[in-house]
Order: sequence, then C-alpha cells, then structure tokens
Amino acid sequence: MRFCLTVAFSMFASAAMAQQAADAVQPESGTGGDAVVTSQAVADALAAKADGVPVEAEGYMVAAANPLAVQAGVDVLAAGGTAADALVAVQTVLGLVEPQSSGLGGGAFLVWYDAATQSLTTLDGRETAPLAVTPTLFLNEDGSRMGFFDAVVGGRSVGTPGTPALLAEVHARWGNQPWATLFEPGIELASTGFEVSPRLAGLIERDAERLAVFPATADYFLPDGVPLAIGTTLQNPDYAATLGALAVGGTDAFYTGQIAQDITETVQEFSANPGVLSELDLAIYQVKERAPVCATYRAHDVCGMGPPSSGALTIGQILGMLDAYDLAALGAENPDSWRLIGDASRLAFADRGRYMADSDFVPMPTAGLVDPAYLAQRGALLGGAEALEEIAPGTPAFDHSLNWADDQSIELPSTSHISIVDSFGNVASMTTTIENAFGSRLMVHGFLLNNELTDFSFATHNDGVPIANAIAPGKRPRSSMAPTIVMKDGAPVLAIGSPGGSRIIGYTAQAIIGYLDWGMDVQQAVSMPHAVNRFGTFDVEEETAATDLVPALEAMGYEVNVRGLNSGLHAIAIGDGLQGGADPRREGIALGE
Ligand code: GLY
Repeated sequence: MRFCLTVAFSMFASAAMAQQAADAVQPESGTGGDAVVTSQAVADALAAKADGVPVEAEGYMVAAANPLAVQAGVDVLAAGGTAADALVAVQTVLGLVEPQSSGLGGGAFLVWYDAATQSLTTLDGRETAPLAVTPTLFLNEDGSRMGFFDAVVGGRSVGTPGTPALLAEVHARWGNQPWATLFEPGIELASTGFEVSPRLAGLIERDAERLAVFPATADYFLPDGVPLAIGTTLQNPDYAATLGALAVGGTDAFYTGQIAQDITETVQEFSANPGVLSELDLAIYQVKERAPVCATYRAHDVCGMGPPSSGALTIGQILGMLDAYDLAALGAENPDSWRLIGDASRLAFADRGRYMADSDFVPMPTAGLVDPAYLAQRGALLGGAEALEEIAPGTPAFDHSLNWADDQSIELPSTSHISIVDSFGNVASMTTTIENAFGSRLMVHGFLLNNELTDFSFATHNDGVPIANAIAPGKRPRSSMAPTIVMKDGAPVLAIGSPGGSRIIGYTAQAIIGYLDWGMDVQQAVSMPHAVNRFGTFDVEEETAATDLVPALEAMGYEVNVRGLNSGLHAIAIGDGLQGGADPRREGIALGE
C-alpha cells in the first residue's frame, strides 16, 4: 500500500500545501564542517567533530555555529564570566561572522538553568509585529497569499528586533562581567576584519540576486557587484560602531535615537516593498519571561520555550507519545523506530498547526497539549505496523471552547543555536534567528533586519474559520525554535537545540532520543543521520546511512524524499565533566576547559 495523506479536515491539506511551497524554495543549505581555523584548540575541536568524538572539558564549554564566536565565549568564561556574559560575546560575534542566520536585527529564545537557585527560566526575545500591521499584510489585492520571497524581501516582513533587549536582560539577571567588555571581541573583529568562511561565501553567492536589491546590503556582500569570496578579509565598521554604541549606551542606543530612526526609515522607505515598523514599536519592545514547558521522557524532564514557540510543546508531544514504546530495544537502525518517531511527529505537527500561536493573543491548550493522559491516548494511535493513514489534530483540554483552522505559514531553515555551560554550573540554551537566510535583505548600521513576520500565517482564516497564528499588532509569530535543557532529578544533563525551520523540532527530538534511548554520546547524537516527518512525506538525509531505511519506509506506506537536511545542532552533555558536540553539517565547534 502506498501511503497517501488522507486527512480528516481539508484545512490540514492547505497547511501541507503551504509547506510544500516552502520546500520548493531553496533553504539555507548545508555546507559541511569547513571553517576558518584560528588556533590549535579550534583545529582540535574541528578534528574531534570530523572524527565523530565529543570535545571534553571539566569546567566550562561553548558550542555554537562558528569558531570565532565560540572562542569569544570561551575567553569570557575563562576570565570568570558566566554563561550570560559569554552569550553576549558569542551572539555579537555570530552577528558578524554568521550574519545570514542571526544578529541584532533578529530575535531569540533562551532557556536558562540557574545553579544558585537550581531553577529554570525561559525568556522570550521574539520579534514582534508592529502596531500598524493589518490582517492583510501578506495578502495580494485579490485576497490570495503573497509569494514567499515577495513577502520576505523588503520592509514588509520586518518585526521589532528582540535580540539586543534579550542580551541586556540576560546580562542584568545573571552576568558578572562589565557589559561593555562583552562587546570587545565583536568590535575588534568587525574593525580589523575576519575571514569570510566557506559557508558564508557559498550562501552569498546563492542569494546574490536578492542581496542586490538594497544598496547597503549589496555594498557589503557584493562589493563591485561580485559576491565575497572565501577567505576575503571583511571589515564591518558600521557594525563595530553599533556594538560600540550598545556597549556604552545600553539598549537605549538601539531602541531609541539614531539607530532606531534609521531602522524604521529603512523599513518604511524601501519603496518596492515597504513595511510599517515605527520608532514607537522599537521604544516599547519588551522581553517576556514565560513559564518553561517540560515533558517527561524516560524519567527525564525535557524543558524548553513555550508559546509563542511551538518548539518545546511539539518536542514534548513527540517524546510523550513515544514514551510508551521501547525505542532502546528496537534500536536506531530499525525502520519501526522511525515509523514510531515519524508518525508521532505527524500527530504532533497536526496539533501544532491547529493550536499553537502567541498565547498572549489567542487562548491555547498549553498544558493540555503535553498532558500525559492526552499523549498516551494519541500515542496509542501508533500501535500498528504501517504508516498512519489518517492524521488529524487531537482534542487537548482547552480552557475555552474554540474553533481554529490550521496554520498556513511558510518556514524555511536559517537560524543558529548556542549552548553554554559556565564554571558555576549555569546552563544557557539559546536559539537565535533573523528567520530566512539574510532575513529581509535590508541592512542598516552593519546588521541585517529580520523577516520574522513571515512566520505568521499569511492567511487569517480558512473557509471562514480563524487561524490561531494570524498576524495582529503586537503579536509574536509562532516559532519552531526549540532551545532545550534536559533535566534529571532537578539537575541539567543536556543543553541542545538547532536551526532548521520547522525541522528544528525533529532534529532536536531525534538527537535527544539518540542520547537517551540509543546510548549515543553527544557528538554521535548530533551527527546521527536525519529522517524527519512533519506533514506526511518522510524526508531522509541524502548520502547517509538513513537512506538504508528508504525501502522499508516505502513498504510501510510512506512517501519518501531523499534530500539534504541542514540541521545545526549544538549540544553539551553535563555529567562528571562536560562533553560537547557540534553539527558536522555546519562550521561550528564545541570548545571548553
Ligand atoms: N524563524 C524560525 C523560527 O522561529 O522557527
């Protein structure tokens, strides 16, 4: 029997079609593990990744997407700083050397374990819809949805950035180093220049046409109209000046004054596709503390960011449904393990598409979605031997009687994940983004502005039924980002997360399964070949052992698509010492002492 996506609700088919449209657009591609080698320690860390063994340390560690950023964080930790201090240094360097993925113009979510109070906190630094947005922001005049890049490129897609405010909040709560000193590595590198990495050069070349539409962006990435080549020494004096302003003036220097004015002018005056972000939006931006979302799995608590992220809820649902099945006995190479994981994921994605959005704006069954009894009932659907023929949202316990239609947003994989453990035992797990690779393509004061508003559903209703993730003034778009800390008996044992659009959820859940069920070390868990199923098609990672699963998955009834699957998992396991793993699909490393 060939699997055919039969759905109980035609609206779910629309969501699947939107996702197929997303898949037709080129994502930020995988580029392997090449990176600029700046020291013997970095060379050793890259060699460990290539050999598939974890990096070990006793006291502190950083795992992130670029060695220059990791080194900046490690230097802060070596000087006695906390993970909060290191996070500021890592993020500000990433915004320079990996500008396509995250930066000051974007947003982020943080999960923080505080050793002193033995408690978890989650902070929401998500971009926010401007007060002047209307429900038709991403609709054409005839009511049809805009093409993805028609919406993305320009001011229309830009939400109020949250990352600078999040860094300041993190530092104020948990930092011990002077704020200004944390900007020094970024200022130094931006002033003297850094080598353009193979990954950055490849992505610039692929995106050259879109990068050319805005003069400041073109001047930086395409000098004289030519994409920057690997190894070019690239300076960014505007970024150095912005970091200098933040270092001296704090976030007021970003959210008010000249930088804020120039951001809003850039957004509003891009005549081909203007946006509505205003100085008021920037001035009133606030980081929000949210309750962590935790799900029980194999006697661990898997904890992460709640709404507006769908990350922790969807991972929690997948793991909660699988808790009744003995994946350890089945093993990592058994197609039945992947059937269980794939169909648990499909069921979770059906709930995600129906119910998950910014809970400050729409009622959500947040607790109901990860209620063990509900997940046991959903998990019982996985008891057969073939692909599920019907996938539909369930009916989690809700505070209100509601009728939502399925979401119709398009998400592409960009983004970056940072895991840090400091010598005090604090743990930071932060996923950070400007959404699509190079965001809106608008560059101002040396950094790119996000296109996060396209994480909202483009449509507001389906057949007259409202969509929970529809845009509204001040609302935060649903995210898939899943910064995670896995806890055992109240203590952190694993910090992990990944970029990858809505596949973030599968990448992170499967690495946790690799670590907890299959006895993998943290490097093996992040290197494990991917097989991800969100909306019916099993995406299987090309040129890996996962392709051995294809005949069996097809025999079970799945449609299979063999393709590149570009995660960027960065993880630190915490036990007697620290073990770090960095995704071989990207340039990052784990490094510590
Ligand atoms: N823009 C990626 C995410 O938030 O899921």
